[in-house]
Amino acid sequence: MSKVTVVGAGKYGSTTAQRLAAMDIVDEVVMTDIVEGLPQGLALDMNQSRPVEKYRTLVVGTNDYADTAGSDVVVITAGLPRKPGMSRMDLLEVNAKIIKDVTQQIIKFSPEATLVIVTNPLDQMTTLAAEVSGLPHHKVLGQAGILDSSRLAHFLSEATGVDILEIDALTLGSHGPTMVPVPSQCSVAGKPLTDFLSEEEIQAILDRTRGGGGEIVALLKTGSAYYAPSSAAARMVAAIINDEKAMMPVCAWVSGEYGINDVYLGVPARLGKNGVEEVVVMDLTDDEVAALAEAAAAVKEKVDELHELDL
Ligand code: LAC
Repeated sequence: MSKVTVVGAGKYGSTTAQRLAAMDIVDEVVMTDIVEGLPQGLALDMNQSRPVEKYRTLVVGTNDYADTAGSDVVVITAGLPRKPGMSRMDLLEVNAKIIKDVTQQIIKFSPEATLVIVTNPLDQMTTLAAEVSGLPHHKVLGQAGILDSSRLAHFLSEATGVDILEIDALTLGSHGPTMVPVPSQCSVAGKPLTDFLSEEEIQAILDRTRGGGGEIVALLKTGSAYYAPSSAAARMVAAIINDEKAMMPVCAWVSGEYGINDVYLGVPARLGKNGVEEVVVMDLTDDEVAALAEAAAAVKEKVDELHELDL
C-alpha cells in the first residue's frame, strides 16, 4: 500500500492533503495534527468529495503518530506561520522545537520515508529535519523553489499579458532575502524577458518575487499563503511517488555542485523514488552562480544560529 503523511492540518497541510488525494496516486493520505477532531473532521469532509471529483485515495485524519507508520513520503507543515511584519527567520526558534519533535516521531514509525519540509525558515528547518532524522541527505528535501518560481511566472504573465502556461520561470537560492531568481533560465513564449520588459521592470518583478510570501501575509493579516505553496509541495510528492526523475527547483543538499559545499539550498534537482536523485548543474551566468554562493553563505550563517539553540 502506498501512503503519504502530511503533518499539520492547518491551511497549508490540509490543502496539501486534499491536492494529493485528488491526484489519486497513493492509496492513503494520512493527515495528523495535535488538535483533536480537526484532522478527523477535515478528512471526513475531503473523503466525501471523492464521488464527485472521481478519485479513490482515502484521507485518514488522526492525532496519533502510530497511524503514520510505513509512510513512503512525509510532508511536514507543522509550525507557526508568519504574522505581518515578521521575517521567516523570526520563526527560527519556535519552529525548530516543533520540527525536532515532529521529525523524531515520524522517523520512529516511518524509518524509510522521504521527508519534504515546508516549515519556515525553510532552509534551516530542512537542515534540522535531516540532522534529527539521521536519514541520508537525498531523502530529506524542502519546498520553496517551485513556489517562488511559480510566483515569478505569475508576475511575468501579468506584466507581459502572455498566457501563464507560456511562461518559464526559475528561482534558486534561499527561501528568503537571498532568493536567486535566474533570468537566464526564464522565458516568455520561448523568448528572453528583455524582449518584453525593460531592465527596471524585470528588476521590480524579481524584487516582488523575493517578497512574494510577505505580500500575501500582509494582506491576509493572519496566516500565510497556502494555495500555491500546497501545489508546490504536492508536485514534489508526485514526482517522488511516481519515480518521475523530473527536474524542479527544490531545497536539496549541495555537495560540490556550483562550487558550493555542505548546505541545504534551492537548486535544480531530479526527484524520484529515492528523493533527490541528482542535483543538476545548469549553465548559469557568473552573476547567478555568485548569487547562489552568497545565498549559501547566508543559509549557513543561520544554520550556525540554529545549532546554538537549546532545543
Ligand atoms: C510563503 C511561505 C509559505 O512563501 O513561506 O508563502
